[in-house]
Amino acid sequence: MSYEHPLAYLIGIEGAALLRAFTGEHDREFVEARLAEIRTLLADEDLANGVEVTQLAPRDGYARWAAAYDSGDNAAFADEPHLAAFLDDIPPGRALDAACGTGRLTRLLAERGHHVVAVDGSPEMLSHAKADSTQVADLHELPVDDGSKDVVLCGLALSHVPDLTPVIAEFARVLAPGGHLVLSDVHPEQVQRGSIPSVRTADGAPARVRTNHHRVGDYLRAFLAAGLAPVRCEEPTPIPAKPQHVPGGGRWDLWPWSLNGLVPDALAAAAKDVPSMLLWHCRKTG
Ligand SMILES: C[S@@+](CC[C@H](N)C(=O)[O-])C[C@H]1O[C@@H](n2cnc3c(N)ncnc32)[C@H](O)[C@@H]1O
Repeated sequence: MSYEHPLAYLIGIEGAALLRAFTGEHDREFVEARLAEIRTLLADEDLANGVEVTQLAPRDGYARWAAAYDSGDNAAFADEPHLAAFLDDIPPGRALDAACGTGRLTRLLAERGHHVVAVDGSPEMLSHAKADSTQVADLHELPVDDGSKDVVLCGLALSHVPDLTPVIAEFARVLAPGGHLVLSDVHPEQVQRGSIPSVRTADGAPARVRTNHHRVGDYLRAFLAAGLAPVRCEEPTPIPAKPQHVPGGGRWDLWPWSLNGLVPDALAAAAKDVPSMLLWHCRKTG
């Protein structure tokens, strides 16, 4: 269980903005405006109550999300043009879409002529996927022979594993020498700012899919330990859209995004140049 308080988020954003002022990005007027805004937030009775939130294992969380996964407005799907550009440089071959979900990215592989095996830990997500073959499987134990794949693609799943090292080693195991590993995920800095999937439990209680914060260095150490050489890394930083003002911050299901409009100036300062996604292309050495 975690406790999500709107003030914890809002004052966190104010704090991130104030740190940037402390290190020279903003002037005295900005600092005083932030401190005044914090006092106003603390006095706002509409923001006085937090919410107890259940932490669901990915298997349970995605069972609840599967039917609506492709119909939502998901900012993380912004990884697609980047992944498409990576994949355009890779010749067609034997591909694995690992943690394929509903097959959103399987399509990118199939369109480029790959023979695609798609696996996912959630039968509910996998039931929507279309590939040459599909199988329920965990990322830690892929049902694939050693050295049998030319490409492994894994999108938006690694922040759900507690430790990258064994999963990256498993990807390296199934890749042929010279094979390609292509990854995307929500950037760890966004995970830390609350970019974590929300769902409702069967009885309607607020829940989030358990999500971890893997630093760029955690990826690098896992690649090096597994004999994978990074050839491309991108951290796109789109200009954030101006947030809409939602009186009282809106209902929990829309947090934290619906809270942003209460602190637009702090958000603009705190979010400036913060990457949205983390994308990698590695080759298996040897
Ligand atoms: C956000 S979805 C991404 C699906 C798809 N790759 C995409 O980019 O749209 C995350 C997927 O990872 C799967 N997943 C998470 N942890 C897993 C694990 N340890 N083994 C297998 N699948 C896992 C979930 O079931 C879910 O379908």
